[in-house]
Amino acid sequence: MPEKIWITIDGKSFQVAPDVTVLEAAREAGVHIPTLCFHERLTANAVCRLCVVEWRGSRTLVPACVATVRPNAVIRTNSPRVKKVRRTILEMLASATDLSEAPELQAMMAECDADPERFGPDAKRRAFGGIKDDNPFYVRDYDKCVLCWRCVQVCAEDVQFTFALGFNKRGFDTEIATFFDHPMPETTCVFCGNCVAVCPTGALKPKTLL
Ligand code: FES
Repeated sequence: MPEKIWITIDGKSFQVAPDVTVLEAAREAGVHIPTLCFHERLTANAVCRLCVVEWRGSRTLVPACVATVRPNAVIRTNSPRVKKVRRTILEMLASATDLSEAPELQAMMAECDADPERFGPDAKRRAFGGIKDDNPFYVRDYDKCVLCWRCVQVCAEDVQFTFALGFNKRGFDTEIATFFDHPMPETTCVFCGNCVAVCPTGALKPKTLL
């Protein structure tokens, strides 16, 4: 077993295994770092940047879910700079996306003092033409999608190896989609429900909840 190393998180020094992420180390120490795209069962891909922390000596903030600890690292998870970035990310998400069925994100917004109206009523919204209802099991409402990528990963090699989901378009208009936007029954989807289970915003919803 590799020798443990010393690190400091929020002024608290302790030892951890040398190959854990900052997020894992923080959790071991009882320090809360908010996450969105991260899921214990999936490969961390650091697309949301909500988990960023300040690492002494690093010019930029570091995503805690993928950064591995180093000996004598000094990390701050709740500095003014970190709080400002988290708040801005959440405000941008709220300005563009329907978060009405995302209780975890709403709690994070309250925790980070984020103002959902910060960018005003003229902020561009992500809109994909309403609910897609094309199968007997679940609906897709991409106006609620924050592109955390969990559904794509769970459908692919992280769990299911079905590869029914990918994405269309680019930038602000990026949309999770089936290949060529075919209706779900015409894809490789086996309706396992894994994508619905990991969706944090209600963009994928079982019909039993409608
Ligand atoms: S939770 Fe780490 S980048 Fe999304």
